[in-house]
Amino acid sequence: MRDTLDRLKEEALAALADAGSSEALQAWNRRYLGKKGALTQMLRSVGELPKEERPAFGQATNAVKVDLEAAYDARTEAVRQAEMARDLAQGAIDVTLPGRPAGSGHLHLTTQTLRQIYDIFAEMGFQVYEATDVETDTYNFELLNMPPHHPARDMWDTFWINDELLLRTHTSPGQIRVMRERYPEPIRVILPGKCYRYEQITARSEHQFYQVEGLAVGHNITMTDLIGTLTEFARRFYKPDRRIRIRGSYFPFTEPSIEADMDCILCNGAGCRVCKYTGWVEVCGAGMVHPVVLKNGGYDPAEWSGFAFGFGVERPALMKYNIDDIRLFYRNDLRFLRQF
Ligand code: DAH
Repeated sequence: MRDTLDRLKEEALAALADAGSSEALQAWNRRYLGKKGALTQMLRSVGELPKEERPAFGQATNAVKVDLEAAYDARTEAVRQAEMARDLAQGAIDVTLPGRPAGSGHLHLTTQTLRQIYDIFAEMGFQVYEATDVETDTYNFELLNMPPHHPARDMWDTFWINDELLLRTHTSPGQIRVMRERYPEPIRVILPGKCYRYEQITARSEHQFYQVEGLAVGHNITMTDLIGTLTEFARRFYKPDRRIRIRGSYFPFTEPSIEADMDCILCNGAGCRVCKYTGWVEVCGAGMVHPVVLKNGGYDPAEWSGFAFGFGVERPALMKYNIDDIRLFYRNDLRFLRQF
């Protein structure tokens, strides 16, 4: 058997040296290395040997296989080069032909929407400030006026990394980070970013989504400034005739807190499935920055005041483009993504 193996190797190498074209190489490969090739058959015949000879023979056959494969790769490359040189010399390859254009992609709908939002707020004097996705309990909750065991924490269930680290449930912790960095400057920023919630996935909610937070801190900033900013945003993002409605609400980090609704763009306020026949859709939570939060950011609430707001990014895009399922955003189905 050993002799047969050695002979096979020699024969194969000689045949390989003779194979001078891609076709000949393919035939060689089938003959020696293919499924029904000589070497494969030899490996199969191991079973016919006495038990004690099997391992050594198996190893030897495998070693030959590795050698032949390496020799084949080297020969293939050499033949390919030779064939190309020949084709070039004969003019069979026209190197002056233009190349095939590489297909270019485009920005994801979320990125496009974020950039529209940045542009609108930039015109109103807001800078973009990015904070981290992984947050501490302290920033995500405590410094936003939610000490441990505060019942409001139930609204923001999340993914914990350990007892102190978590994936942020909202962009609000960035408020504290900007304040601590910018004090004693006045602040006008938006904080975009991804947020995470331990939550059932439905057509209306995902467990990962984007938010844009807004924060203005200065002297004599009032609720009117907040409402004006939100109304201006809605009119520029959707349509100039949008109306905003303000409702009282509760968030631990604002006082007073509000929620802003906009007249439903699908039915123009007449009532439809999307607005649950109320004519209004909720656009964001907002309010005047709570004195405790200002203080935690380093700003004296006796001297400074501010407003803040936060809204999701996918939902406004859903409404603007009449998309009926939020899950489509991150499913990476090009048939969906290419439409925008
Ligand atoms: N952080 C809130 C949430 O995720 C949204 C929010 C409400 C942000 C009120 C604010 C605010 O800045 O003032 O549900």
